[in-house]
Amino acid sequence: MKAFAIEQHGIANLREVERPIPEPRHGEVVIRVAAAALNYRDVEIVEGSYHTRFDLPLIPLSDGVGEVVAVGEGVRRVGVGDRVAGTFWQNWIGGDFAMAEAGGQLGGPIDGMLADYVRLSAEGVVHVPAHLTDEEAATLPCAGLTAWHALVTEGRIRPGETVLVQGTGGVSIFALQFARLAGASVIVTSSSEAKLERARALGARAGINYRTSPKWGLAVRDLAGGGGVDHVIEVGGPGSFAQSLAAIRPGGQINVIGYLGGVDGTINPLDIFRRKARVRGIPVGSRESFEAMTRGIGQNGLRPVIDRVFPRAEVSAALDYFRSGRHFGKVVLKF
Ligand SMILES: NC(=O)c1ccc[n+]([C@@H]2O[C@H](COP(=O)([O-])OP(=O)(O)OC[C@H]3O[C@@H](n4cnc5c(N)ncnc54)[C@H](OP(=O)(O)O)[C@@H]3O)[C@@H](O)[C@H]2O)c1
Repeated sequence: MKAFAIEQHGIANLREVERPIPEPRHGEVVIRVAAAALNYRDVEIVEGSYHTRFDLPLIPLSDGVGEVVAVGEGVRRVGVGDRVAGTFWQNWIGGDFAMAEAGGQLGGPIDGMLADYVRLSAEGVVHVPAHLTDEEAATLPCAGLTAWHALVTEGRIRPGETVLVQGTGGVSIFALQFARLAGASVIVTSSSEAKLERARALGARAGINYRTSPKWGLAVRDLAGGGGVDHVIEVGGPGSFAQSLAAIRPGGQINVIGYLGGVDGTINPLDIFRRKARVRGIPVGSRESFEAMTRGIGQNGLRPVIDRVFPRAEVSAALDYFRSGRHFGKVVLKF
């Protein structure tokens, strides 16, 4: 079979390699991959700039969907012909994050979805909603679940609340959609007026340009009314955290997810106290959370927002495009 492997870091160095088609062992399944989706982490892993270094060669990408073509002994959860996605944390079934074993992430250190076939634990796959195309379903495991886990599983979002999403990448657009599904209203920040317009068309109530208004915190608080926003999808990182603190109502929740604006910054913990903020780190989510999300998506007919689909052979061009930040929502590879 064909796969793409990182043998040397760098997007231009990603190489197509020949590997044997895997056989399922006890408790495992083999999936023929139909589509895969890109996440910011994948770019960093391919480039060698991710905060953790993994052994090479490595087949990248955590997110993909396909058909089960073989099952090993003892497998009951899924059968041949089922359409499934792999879970980001192969060992985090449910409950607390302590369940997730270090080193259990797909696409690094475990070989990921950029291959014709992948072999996964039968416990590490989830059936995807029937109404979604393969390309749409491929976007769920990392970006979709991170947004769901932050707002629904941990955040217990309720109708009438207000959510601030930063930027218009994969996680933030899913958060916008899930917030609307929950009856909450959404304020978006973006560097682009055209993207703010697209976010409004998806149901966002208001938007602010974080380039032209870098101190957007108080403006977001005013727009939200009621003392500020209830939930923040914090993907900007240390550079935007102070603005997030200014935007929340007293006791509002800040989900610390990413660092798109860089990793350097200064945070005064007393500001967290002053705003009575509830701050938590979000590590994607568990399989249980993933299954709850697929039920939510299935029952509401929600469709992930795909910016662009590339043929798999053009993975390097897709990674370059993704890295440029021009996308709105998700970038996907079709196999
Ligand atoms: N903790 C976790 O479990 C987890 C899971 C998934 C992702 N992440 C992290 O979360 C972040 C977002 O991931 P993603 O996959 O959604 O990324 P993405 O699709 O690459 O997001 C790109 C968008 O982010 C926006 N952006 C760039 N710099 C920004 C800044 N300084 N402030 C606010 N927005 C900014 C831009 O939106 P505009 O063009 O609209 O300005 C850009 O188009 C990344 O840092 C990723 O590593 C963490």
